[in-house]
Amino acid sequence: KRPIIIDCDPGVDDAFALAMAFAEDSLDVLAIHTVAGNVPVGYTTKNARGLVKLLGVDVPVAKGATEPLIFDPFFAAEVHGENGFGEIELTDLAPLSPLTAMESYVKILSEAEEKVTIIAIGPLTNIALLIKSYPELLDKIECISLMGGGLKGGNTTSAGEFNFFYDPHAAHIVLNSGLPIIMSSLDATEQSEFHQKDADVLKEKGGELGVLLHDISQSALKFHREVNHSDFMNLHDVMAVLYLVYPELFTTKDVYVKIAYDEGIMRGFSHTDIRLQAENPPNAKVLIGLDNKKIIRIVLETLTGKDVT
Ligand code: BDR
Ligand code: CA
Repeated sequence: KRPIIIDCDPGVDDAFALAMAFAEDSLDVLAIHTVAGNVPVGYTTKNARGLVKLLGVDVPVAKGATEPLIFDPFFAAEVHGENGFGEIELTDLAPLSPLTAMESYVKILSEAEEKVTIIAIGPLTNIALLIKSYPELLDKIECISLMGGGLKGGNTTSAGEFNFFYDPHAAHIVLNSGLPIIMSSLDATEQSEFHQKDADVLKEKGGELGVLLHDISQSALKFHREVNHSDFMNLHDVMAVLYLVYPELFTTKDVYVKIAYDEGIMRGFSHTDIRLQAENPPNAKVLIGLDNKKIIRIVLETLTGKDVT
């Protein structure tokens, strides 16, 4: 089993990613670290604790950064709801770890006998702080499978994808860390199409978890209907989990990614040098395509434990 730490900001698609990570036999989730992103860290932490309780797993949830490294925080309540879960309030919560996310990284990585994979599906603030504070622990990290960026542009602004736009300095630090990076970019994740009918399958066949995922999806589906005029939402964060288990479902490109971190119209843009004579060697394996039909089926079957054909 591959040891995993999940760094996240739940968040609707984060909740799907967390549920998938716990359901995949080949992954061993050691801890969940939260960060401010979609909503303030108080909510992302509460949502993670609620989900852990509902899933009945014994995994610590440690609270991380409350703000980006340099820029001011802002939130994505229009997509994820004010509380990150489309106003669905979980009241039965797993305990909060007495450790901060940073203390938990240090403890797990320094004690690890095997290298640990980080799945990073929120802004990269915690991980950038770890890289800058404890460089001696980096050789304990197998790779970072992150959701962020887009070679073609963004979703928060025309240039910036939400996680990279939110904390571009952190994204810059992570991409320049020398660690192996798998980057689930919008180029791939926007090809994942999760419809109302898929949410209905979860509700009907997926027990308590299925009902929760259905219910928290309603605000995001509504946002996409009204604002993007699309009848589906993307399961962005799930791809950072699924690539580790089903790499054959994705197309990838090894490229050199540079993050635009200045305030301005390019903030958060993940620029890639695709020239053959590029000076810099690739620093990321970027997911640029995926098999949507198979992926949605895997998600529904894994989360319900039932055949969905
Ligand atoms: C990313 O931004 C967040 O809103 C989602 O949870 C995902 O991590 C997509 O751009
Ligand atoms: Ca997220």
